[in-house]
Amino acid sequence: MARIIGGIGSSHVPTIGVAYDKNKQDHPAWAPLFKGFEPAFKWLEEKKPDVLIVFYNDHLNAFFYDLYPTFAVGVAEQYDVADEGAGRRPLPMLPGHPGLARHIAEQLVNDEFDLSVFQDRPLDHGVFSPLPLLWPHDDKWPGAVIPIEVNVVQYPLPTAMRCFKLGQALRRAVESYPEDLTVAVVGTGGLSHQIHGERTGFNNTEWDIRFIDLIEKDPMTLARMKHVDYIRLGGAESVEVIMWLAMRGALSDDITKVHQNYYLATTTAMTVLVFEENDPAADTGRTAIRTGNPQLEGASEIEGTYVFDIQTATKRINLNRFFWNMKNPEFRATFSADEAAACRKAGLTPEETRMVAERDWIGLVRYGANFFVLEKFARLVGETNLEVYAEMRGETFEEFLATRQVPDAR
Ligand SMILES: [Fe+2]
Repeated sequence: MARIIGGIGSSHVPTIGVAYDKNKQDHPAWAPLFKGFEPAFKWLEEKKPDVLIVFYNDHLNAFFYDLYPTFAVGVAEQYDVADEGAGRRPLPMLPGHPGLARHIAEQLVNDEFDLSVFQDRPLDHGVFSPLPLLWPHDDKWPGAVIPIEVNVVQYPLPTAMRCFKLGQALRRAVESYPEDLTVAVVGTGGLSHQIHGERTGFNNTEWDIRFIDLIEKDPMTLARMKHVDYIRLGGAESVEVIMWLAMRGALSDDITKVHQNYYLATTTAMTVLVFEENDPAADTGRTAIRTGNPQLEGASEIEGTYVFDIQTATKRINLNRFFWNMKNPEFRATFSADEAAACRKAGLTPEETRMVAERDWIGLVRYGANFFVLEKFARLVGETNLEVYAEMRGETFEEFLATRQVPDAR
């Protein structure tokens, strides 16, 4: 089974990335920051977790206000680095862990935490500011990351208590995963800072030190605090420390703080904490191994039915995107002008191209095309849903209509 071996709390201020890319590790102003990450780097080097689960927020780089999820877990094979306006940082693509990520999504939703799921979104400094200081990455990263995005940029935010409980649910999910994996949980976000308005530059070291103490020994006190308390005590943007509560919720109470660094360089208190589980193999007795989605047990035995889940969504994203793009008039025109060329350009496999050419509706559904994108394809090629239904059932249109109350429907 998968085990949580510890947790890391870290600031993710983008200047860490800028200083890192400019090789300022030995600059007197930056050295205390970089030195502060070294014990965390060594801890990871020694413990070698297979997976880091990172609670982070996106700073309007991969998500925008048209749809900003409260919680979203990444289930992709890999993640790119977001271009935040100054070009993509020279870091390798970051591997994900689709198996554990899918399991986390299934178990958390069944535990009544309704997370969104994402695939094709790059990760910004919420992950990539601290990560290069925690893991070596000359040509590739030494493990996988499962990013869990938390909304801390548009109120209403999830409460600190909700984040703490999300961490507890995450632990249950991880411990129920059958594969032997070691996992460290990371919560990112600055401690005290404010970066907008006349109060810009606000810091409160006294509060930061108290927060550092409470997150270890009494996280429930932090979990009970309101967002306004965090704003008042630590500055408006410091409310993002609720992501540390998610990390702490995923740990047991039998932990040791093996590292702490606090350095206030510019506007954000740059902090690194490492908590180690004293007995990661301890059986908490809370969870048994579970696989799959308990809501769907037995569904595969229901004839002629193909449940669309995250596994299908990740495996068949290219084909589904191809049909989804048919809501776009230019894409429709390109397809109609030369179907084979459009399939080639979209990178469809020969098998997918054949099913498209033959309008093999049932083949496409069995393969993993979602009906709600297929119906856009049907509109484009002049078939009604009723005609598609008939073909999927292996009937003529007339035979299918005879089974309905509206036999003259077209
Ligand atoms: Fe942030």
